[in-house]
Amino acid sequence: MLEDVDKLKAEALAAVAAAPDQAALAAAQGRFLGRKGSLTALLRSMGKIDPAQRATFGKAVNEAKNQLTEAFAARQAELERTAIDSQLGDPSFDPTIPGAPVQSGALHPLTIVQERVERIFESMGFAVLDYPEAETEFYNFEGLNIPADHPARDMQDTFWLDEGLVMRTHTSPGQVRAMREYGAPLRAVFPGRTFRYEEVDASHEHTFHQVEGLMIDRDISVANLIAAMKCLLREIFERDVKVRLRPGYFPFVEPGFELDIQCLVCDGKGCSVCKQGGWVELLPCGLVHPAVIRFGNLDPDEWTGWAFGLGLSRLVMMKFEIDDIRLIMSGDLRFTEQFKGAWR
Ligand code: FA5
Repeated sequence: MLEDVDKLKAEALAAVAAAPDQAALAAAQGRFLGRKGSLTALLRSMGKIDPAQRATFGKAVNEAKNQLTEAFAARQAELERTAIDSQLGDPSFDPTIPGAPVQSGALHPLTIVQERVERIFESMGFAVLDYPEAETEFYNFEGLNIPADHPARDMQDTFWLDEGLVMRTHTSPGQVRAMREYGAPLRAVFPGRTFRYEEVDASHEHTFHQVEGLMIDRDISVANLIAAMKCLLREIFERDVKVRLRPGYFPFVEPGFELDIQCLVCDGKGCSVCKQGGWVELLPCGLVHPAVIRFGNLDPDEWTGWAFGLGLSRLVMMKFEIDDIRLIMSGDLRFTEQFKGAWR
């Protein structure tokens, strides 16, 4: 038996030495060490060996296997070197030609900004939640104090699905969902896609992104809201941004505000993004209406809160000075590639 091992080893070593190229070497390696190779077969036959000789035989086979594995690896390295050397000697081979470019992916600008907004709010103790894009009429409208005959519905015309579902027109439906799900006190942001039957232009899309913020606690005031908004804008723009607060009407907040920022694309001079006005409507917000708190199954005499609905697509435009919202969801790689490694 031991002679069989020696014989096989000698044959294998001869094959290693004789292999003229890497393909022949690989074939030889398969013949001896592969799953169906002859040395592997010897190892498998161990059970049939007389127990008294089994240890000696096993040791010999294993040693042969290790030795052969090394020999194959050494010859492989040698053949690789020879192949490279012969290519270098070939006058048609130019090692200075740059290699083929490696395609690498990167995060979309929307994702970059969304993740940053999430991190800012997480650092203030907010949870990040995710709610459905196909919403019930109740959560999209009634639960937000917008009954069927309310004129505010006309401002948010959208796409209707079967079974009474609606493509959510804003991320605000999450307010009532979050209150019902988690009760109070509560701090959460919920980013996502929103949909409107909209005339598309440089600053309006039919499918765009918002981030909703909600804080419910005792004795929440407008001062809390403004502090959080200022913190957000400072962190996002990493510079002073001029803001203005105007009264704004939304049936689900009282009082309600529109927080506008001075257009960063034109520095307030007027461009297509700010419709020549110098200001961009970015962040409607306000104190949560008692009716909405009640729809959230909480007592408005005990709980108060603020909410905002940030236009994430517009924020991306301001951050990266993009002058047409249609580029964001265009899927055009020439556009997205510009943001590789941007602002991580
Ligand atoms: C709302 O959607 C309210 N749900 C926001 C809110 C939440 C108010 C909580 C108070 C409390 P509005 O329709 O204004 O509000 O939209 C919010 C933001 O989304 C806008 O400021 C704007 O930045 C962005 N936005 C609205 N429509 C479009 C659109 N067609 N394309 C791109 N961005 C849009």
